[in-house]
Amino acid sequence: MENAVEVRGLKKAYKDVTAVDGIDLTVSEGEIFGLIGHNGAGKTTTIECILGTRTRDSGEVSVLGMDPVRDRKKLFTRTGVQFQHTSYQNRLRIGEACEVTASLYPGSCGSGKWKELLEQFGLSGRTRKEINELSGGEKQKLSVVLALIPGPDILFLDELTTGLDPAARRGIWGYLKELRESGVTIILTSHYMDEVEYLCDRIAIMKKGLITAQGAPHQLMEINGTKNLEDLFMLYGEEKKGAVKPQGYVNASPLLSLSAEFLSWLACLRAAGEKENSI
Ligand SMILES: Nc1ncnc2c1ncn2[C@@H]1O[C@H](COP(=O)(O)OP(=O)(O)OP(=O)(O)O)[C@@H](O)[C@H]1O
Ligand SMILES: [Mg+2]
Repeated sequence: MENAVEVRGLKKAYKDVTAVDGIDLTVSEGEIFGLIGHNGAGKTTTIECILGTRTRDSGEVSVLGMDPVRDRKKLFTRTGVQFQHTSYQNRLRIGEACEVTASLYPGSCGSGKWKELLEQFGLSGRTRKEINELSGGEKQKLSVVLALIPGPDILFLDELTTGLDPAARRGIWGYLKELRESGVTIILTSHYMDEVEYLCDRIAIMKKGLITAQGAPHQLMEINGTKNLEDLFMLYGEEKKGAVKPQGYVNASPLLSLSAEFLSWLACLRAAGEKENSI
């Protein structure tokens, strides 16, 4: 499997605030990868630097084999993005936003595609409505639709379901799983651990600009003896010092990036140890 995204030593500071402090990341083609961490951990900055919409201070970034700054135009046509904060032009209508977005992407399949997407996201029949008349959740759905219009090979979703009702969240989850089945790579951030556990093949936990753990959610939970992802988040991602460590915690370097192979190897070791102790 090829890597859709490769990040080495990525750093970004805003004056005296170090937002991203030298991180390494690898996302395989066709996987759903989740970035989680406390408010201000550096998730959005990381995504923006990967996309090239924010200039990195140092480090290497490759997306679909391209440099996001140098090859920005080429990459743009294969990428869908839902930013955490989107402001729309005043009085712009839903249909107009979709039409304009579709016109920017050669692979967007015209208006048939976006009309189908609006239907799928429960926004059909609203094409003539102004965006500023939509509810918060409806705006959020629209921003996901706009990210999907390009028919992207790689999709970035920054807090995709914030403000959505449970039925809408489930609908989006189903849609994203289908996209993954069709080979699309998805990188998302979310503060909902149920969502991350359900959707993500692998995750990276960020804390103060660093990645403190990386791997498949079930393997990270198993190796740390946490019963759910929220406990794992408290262990590796919470901003406060002295987070409670659940029983069975495996002391890992906070800078250690845990590969799936390494984690399953540790799990085997642990299982073997438990077996021996029980004899
Ligand atoms: N445009 C900016 N100018 C100055 N500082 C910024 C800017 N954007 C982000 N920061 C700072 O960089 C750090 C990382 O912010 P970032 O938005 O990447 O975090 P995040 O993990 O996405 O947080 P959240 O979960 O709240 O969205 C924070 O300390 C934030 O205050
Ligand atoms: Mg953010």
